This record gives sequence, C-alpha cells and structure tokens, in this order.
Amino acid sequence: MEEAGTILIADDSRASLILLQRGLGRLGYDIVTAESGQEALQLAEENNVDIFVLDVQMPGMSGFDTARALHATTQYRETPILFLTGEEDIQQRIKGFEAGGVDYIVKPFHTVEVAKRVGIHLELFRRRRESERYANEMETLADERAKQLAHADRLAMLGTLAGGVAHEINNPLSFISGNVQTMVNLWPLMNQLIGKELKREPDDPDDLDFIREEMPEILDGIQGGIQRIAKIVNGLKTYVREKGVDREAYQIAQVFDSALTVCQGALNQVEVITEFEKPLPDLMGDSQKIEQVLINLCVNAAHAMEGREDQKIWVRAHKDGDAIVVSVEDNGEGIPAENLLSIWDPFFTTKEVGKGTGLGLSICQNIIREHGGDIEASNVEGNGAKFTFKLPLSQ
Ligand SMILES: Nc1ncnc2c1ncn2[C@@H]1O[C@H](COP(=O)(O)OP(=O)(O)OP(=O)(O)O)[C@@H](O)[C@H]1O
Ligand SMILES: [Mg+2]
Repeated sequence: MEEAGTILIADDSRASLILLQRGLGRLGYDIVTAESGQEALQLAEENNVDIFVLDVQMPGMSGFDTARALHATTQYRETPILFLTGEEDIQQRIKGFEAGGVDYIVKPFHTVEVAKRVGIHLELFRRRRESERYANEMETLADERAKQLAHADRLAMLGTLAGGVAHEINNPLSFISGNVQTMVNLWPLMNQLIGKELKREPDDPDDLDFIREEMPEILDGIQGGIQRIAKIVNGLKTYVREKGVDREAYQIAQVFDSALTVCQGALNQVEVITEFEKPLPDLMGDSQKIEQVLINLCVNAAHAMEGREDQKIWVRAHKDGDAIVVSVEDNGEGIPAENLLSIWDPFFTTKEVGKGTGLGLSICQNIIREHGGDIEASNVEGNGAKFTFKLPLSQ
C-alpha cells in the first residue's frame, strides 16, 4: 500500500464519526475528527491534512461552506474533499462538485467503500503532485541547459572574436615594439649629444636633466607593457581554429618530461611525483600543444602552493578503455566551489593584477577539445586541486 496519510473527518453525528474513525484508522491512516465545520477549519490549521471527508448537513457551517473555506487557503487549495450526505438528490451532488468535492458518498455508507474511495483519491492526488513536481524539475533542467548553451555560445563567439582581435593587434604591436627597441638603442647616443649641446648653451638645464634621467625608466616601462600585450595576444591567438592540428604519434610520458624541463624554474620548490602506467599506447595529435597544457597545469599548481611547506604535485596517467586519462594534482589551497565553473572562462583570474592573464585554463580546455578530449577540475578532500583530462586513443 502507498504511504498512509492524515484524514480529517467532520460530521455532527457522533455515531458516523466513530464508525469512520475505526474503519479508516485500522488501515493505518491518522484520523482527526471534528463535529462542526468551524472545528474542522481550526483542526485543519493545526494539522497537516492529506484528505477531507465532510458531512454536508452540519449545523452552522455546512460541508460545502467548509470545503470552500478550505480551498480558499494556500495550504489546502488543491487537497481532495469527499462529501457525505443523507440525500440522494442529483442537484445536491452537483452542488457538491461545484463546491470543490472530488467524490460524493450517500449515507448510510459502508466503511470499506469510504476507505476505498479515500485511498483512490489520495493516490490520484499524490500522483498529480508528483507529476507536477516532475514537470517543474524538467522545466528547471531545461532552463539550466538553455543557459549553459547560451554561455557556451557566448564563449565560442568570444573565442572567435578574441582570435580575430589578436591577429589585428599583432601587426601594429610588432612595429611599436620594433620602434621602441630602436629608441632604446638610440637613447645613449641621443643622451650624449644632448649633453654636448648643453655644454654650449647651459640656459636652464633642470628640466632636461630630469628628462635625461627618467628616459631609461620610461622606455623600460613601455617595453614591459609591450611584452605583456604580446603575451596576451599570443595566448588569444590559440583561439583561432587552426585547420589541421599537427598530428603525430607521441608518448604522454615523454611530453611530460619536456614540459618539466620548460617549467623547472617555476617548480624548484616542488616535489613532482609521477605515476604513469607502463606501457601506455601512443597518442595521436599535436604534442607541443599537449605539452603546453601540462606546463599550464603545473605552473598553476605551483602558484597555488606558493609559500607553503611540503609542496607536491602528482602527475598520473593510465589507460581507460579507448582513452588515456592524465591528471595533475597538487596540495595547494584548492579551488573555491563557486569558482569551479568560471576558472575556464578567458580572463578569469584570482591572481593579482599583472600576475595572471586568466587565459591559461581556457587555452588548455581549447587544446584538449581540439584533440577530441575533455578536461575537468575538482578538489581533492584533504588535498588541493586536481585537473584531469582524457584524450581518445583513436578518432
Ligand atoms: N591548481 C590550482 N589550485 C587552485 N586554483 C587554481 C589552480 N589552477 C587554477 N586555479 C585558479 O584558476 C584561475 C584561472 O587559471 P588560469 O590558468 O586560467 O589563469 P591564471 O593562472 O590566473 O593566469 P595565466 O595562467 O594566464 O597566467 C587561477 O587564477 C586560480 O584562481
Ligand atoms: Mg595559469
């Protein structure tokens, strides 16, 4: 049987109250009884009622009035109500349904029949609520999915846009950079010449002296800025979908070795523990790009452990069906739950201004997807963050 429930029975006849209470109580229902409509309303407020059985003819408030009052509340707006009546009048029955009743039982009743009908209406009501809840859940899911898709769309568009912008900026950037370099090269000579000039006409050399002192620093600042722009532009360029990724067979362990050589500097405080299954089959793809992913992940890990004692990175690889799974785990601070999605967004960074561009992970995701794989981030209980990517062996 379905879970029992609470039935509120209102009848001014004590005899029929007792009869129903016994008959329904035996079936495991919780029974609340009232001898008038008013009492029924009050008890309904104090209890959590699943279904009402109301006598129609009660002194004071009739069963119909009680039903209307119940359905006017938020709590019982849709709760099923069964009417009990002594009259077998069709008009009366219609009035009962109009007052919001779901069923109509004529006295003298048989408790077994009442019990069956109560059971059926409770079940119907529960199923309706269940399907409403289900429909709501579905709607929420559909909403979320639509939002995710819109987000993915925006990111894809942003990617294309960023790739285009990077390409456009790259040209002027290279001639700015070239010209500044020329200025840097010319400055010592210019400075010398100005010095000679001044010796001839030393009118008011204060401002000029200042400029001559500051100039190397100014040029240095410009060059720093240019380098930073170049780094960002370079990162953005990987968003341009390059047709035909370089494809070659490579061993993930070897690629990791050369990644380690590149980021040795960043990892000098870190113990790197590798656990590679042996032997592992060759992967196909652009090993340089995969190396870039491993470098990004390791450098991120090192940053997350900065200033801590006992800094460790575990790099693991194993075969899983038709794919190779690679993970990079650290014992740093982990990733706050609210950032787990945004870390993949281009320009999302928690590092101080000037330190991170926020492009690293979004580039990693791009590269792994280009290779038909997937990458995800999680936190390891009692440890730091763990990034796992999966590369298919054959495409
Ligand atoms: N191993 C990690 N542990 C904790 N947080 C991490 C880890 N890796 C990445 N993050 C978080 O994700 C953010 C985004 O990383 P991402 O590599 O995209 O950019 P970044 O490291 O900030 O800058 P960039 O890599 O461009 O220099 C980081 O700023 C950091 O908050
Ligand atoms: Mg990074």
